[in-house]
Amino acid sequence: MNGVALANQGPAPLLRVDRLHVDYEVGRAIGGWPPGRRRTRVAVRDVSFEIASGETFGLVGESGSGKSTTGRAILRLVTPAAGAIAFDGREITTLGKNTPMWYRRAVQVVFQDPLASLNPRHLVGNIVEQAVGQRSDAPGRAGRRRRARELLDQVGLAGRHAERFPYELSGGQQQRVAIARALAVDPRLIICDEAVSALDVSTQGQIVNLLGDLQRELGLSLLFISHDLAVVRHLSHRVGVLRLGELVESGPADQVYNEPRHPYTRSLLDSVLVPDPVAQRERRLARRTRAVPRLDDLEEEHD
Ligand SMILES: Nc1ncnc2c1ncn2[C@@H]1O[C@H](COP(=O)(O)OP(=O)(O)OP(=O)(O)O)[C@@H](O)[C@H]1O
Ligand SMILES: [Mg+2]
Repeated sequence: MNGVALANQGPAPLLRVDRLHVDYEVGRAIGGWPPGRRRTRVAVRDVSFEIASGETFGLVGESGSGKSTTGRAILRLVTPAAGAIAFDGREITTLGKNTPMWYRRAVQVVFQDPLASLNPRHLVGNIVEQAVGQRSDAPGRAGRRRRARELLDQVGLAGRHAERFPYELSGGQQQRVAIARALAVDPRLIICDEAVSALDVSTQGQIVNLLGDLQRELGLSLLFISHDLAVVRHLSHRVGVLRLGELVESGPADQVYNEPRHPYTRSLLDSVLVPDPVAQRERRLARRTRAVPRLDDLEEEHD
């Protein structure tokens, strides 16, 4: 091994996604030969990016571009057809079917709809206490309770919120609970999949600021998935742009936003930076008639 070459490479990334390819089975073809050929829809093709320790990587793109699928593959909720995902230098795509506990702790997720992911029959305090209990060094009952209160405090909730059910909280407060629960196991990466998209604009700002603060204080890595380019820009060190399952551009946030290289990135930026709704509608119509291939046109058939 060449020590100099290694030294030049800098620290290894926390997450490395290498030529990821994911497709979904969309039923078997009727007729044709051979019979019962698998029909698949390509959701992600040849996507590669890295996330360093303590870095926020924003993943943007229109609906259906493969953002959530990329997140799901990292979480091992879907099995990639090809490509590799390495976490902290360990290959995770080749691990057996059951996701190892260390990985389930290390990579947490916060989804768009917190109410759907929080147990409606449990008090907020209990939800976070249970998550603390998942730690490898889980403390006893009193310790779990204390730690849960600390976590709720860390995400800006008061002791009284611990005694409520999730549905008794506002959307922003529910999302704070989801974040506290994610933090309970000392994760190293949190995947936020449209985590603020369902919130009103001022609450969005508060949650985005909270995530930014936590990321800096705890040295967390974030994969921040959103269709909202303004929010992504605010939070991300680097950004990747997905279009129809392909990463058409990635780089430092300032570069992608100020000097986009790919025409698709430019048109995405145009569509959000134009404040005039009439002009926006005209652009949208113009784009629609411009014969852009839809993902459905890219469906492939495999044996
Ligand atoms: N379970 C599934 N079965 C079949 N196709 C799927 C499935 N989930 C997603 N897809 C398809 O894969 C493609 C990528 O979907 P994905 O959910 O990753 O997009 P996205 O970028 O997260 O979109 P959105 O912004 O709407 O959340 C889409 O064409 C979608 O229809
Ligand atoms: Mg999605």
